[in-house]
Amino acid sequence: MRNPKILVLEKDESLADQVRGVASELRPRPEVVACDRATGFEEAVSSSGPFDVMIAGPSLSTKTGLSALQAIHDETPATSLVLAFAKRPDASLRDIIRTGAMDLLQLPVADKSLHDAVERAVAMSRSQPAEPAAATVQASVPAANLGTVFTVSSATGGCGKTFYATNLAYYLHQYTGKRTCIVDLDLQFGEVSTALRLRPRFTISDILSREDIDDVDLAAHIEEYVVTHDSGVMVLPAPKDPSDADRIHPVDVQRVIEAARTKFDYVIVDTPAALTEIVLAAFDMSNQLYVMATLDLPSIRHMGVFLNTLEKLKISSDNVKLILNKAERDVGLDVDQVTRLFPQGFTSVLPYAKEVTKSVNVGTPVLAFAPTADVSRRIAAGMSPLLPEANRGKALEAEGPNKRRLFARMFHRSTAQIAS
Ligand SMILES: Nc1ncnc2c1ncn2[C@@H]1O[C@H](COP(=O)(O)OP(=O)(O)OP(=O)(O)O)[C@@H](O)[C@H]1O
Ligand SMILES: [Mg+2]
Repeated sequence: MRNPKILVLEKDESLADQVRGVASELRPRPEVVACDRATGFEEAVSSSGPFDVMIAGPSLSTKTGLSALQAIHDETPATSLVLAFAKRPDASLRDIIRTGAMDLLQLPVADKSLHDAVERAVAMSRSQPAEPAAATVQASVPAANLGTVFTVSSATGGCGKTFYATNLAYYLHQYTGKRTCIVDLDLQFGEVSTALRLRPRFTISDILSREDIDDVDLAAHIEEYVVTHDSGVMVLPAPKDPSDADRIHPVDVQRVIEAARTKFDYVIVDTPAALTEIVLAAFDMSNQLYVMATLDLPSIRHMGVFLNTLEKLKISSDNVKLILNKAERDVGLDVDQVTRLFPQGFTSVLPYAKEVTKSVNVGTPVLAFAPTADVSRRIAAGMSPLLPEANRGKALEAEGPNKRRLFARMFHRSTAQIAS
């Protein structure tokens, strides 16, 4: 087998020098070619290519640079792309992800991290089949054994995201016994710990301010930073001080979720009521999104705008579920009217219920506090398709044997409501 080839795309020669340094320790020893202009790429490929790995430096961290990289990567998909950018990339996470990069390093980078990244990138490129069609699959962490990520979001505040996220985590953990963690990404005013009456020692800020953060594998440490609720649900809380939120960037969020899904079977992400870069970073890592609204005109209107934005961002609507919460009668807007506006339908329509307030006051998800309440049954009906088939019976039994038919009737009723 020929020696691997690495192309370093960067104006400043020092990155290529550092790559040469670490490459000299790898076996077989890779050949390193430096190219100081993205536009000189084709020349470099025809004279010295094909390359197994391409490392792009900070001068390509602009929007234009990233689209050039995306075009290069589309042309040579079997080449593993590694981005080596300065601490605060001058680009959104979305643009970075679109390049198809398999790794993102933050400069200055320790030799050990660069060495490991180059080694991984070489191995990844060698395991890729030569056909371009197969190689277009994102070369990130393999999906096997990774937890499922659900993100709960809304356009307007107070829709019940934290309420739904805590109940979703409780439900999944309770009926599968699997390891479940809520990550509170409402970084300024996160309330997950309060809603569950937890007193966390650590928060997401603590894990991200570790001195060795640039080198360390977060997955190996994330469990040290979570706090466990009596139900067994774990929580990685939001920072205690709202000003710490500014220090957390989308790339950090991506690392935390990636670590969480390595260690937990279900990762539930709670978010603030906004489409920030932080929330988009969570969306990018999610298997399923929930978008919530309450039964009032501003909330419904903003839900529409929110969904249009997701469409523009090319987030597949197959993975988006809608929840209508605090649905009360006689408020001048009824569920049927609202359902007509959203043809995809609502996964659950939840009533306003005093059991919810009571449950929050004792720090228990309403599903545990009042399992037979109407609101709990409706929540459970919407969540039951998430359970593996074998676990669904157990969830229904929690309602009591003679309640089973009522539960089934309710489920059908809410489905019929959605369809009408
Ligand atoms: N179905 C419901 N019935 C009664 N009260 C509810 C219901 N859903 C949520 N609440 C209450 O409404 C308030 C707001 O809910 P929650 O904090 O979950 O919303 P949020 O979307 O997370 O808000 P924020 O945007 O501020 O993070 C809480 O006091 C919660 O207990
Ligand atoms: Mg909240």
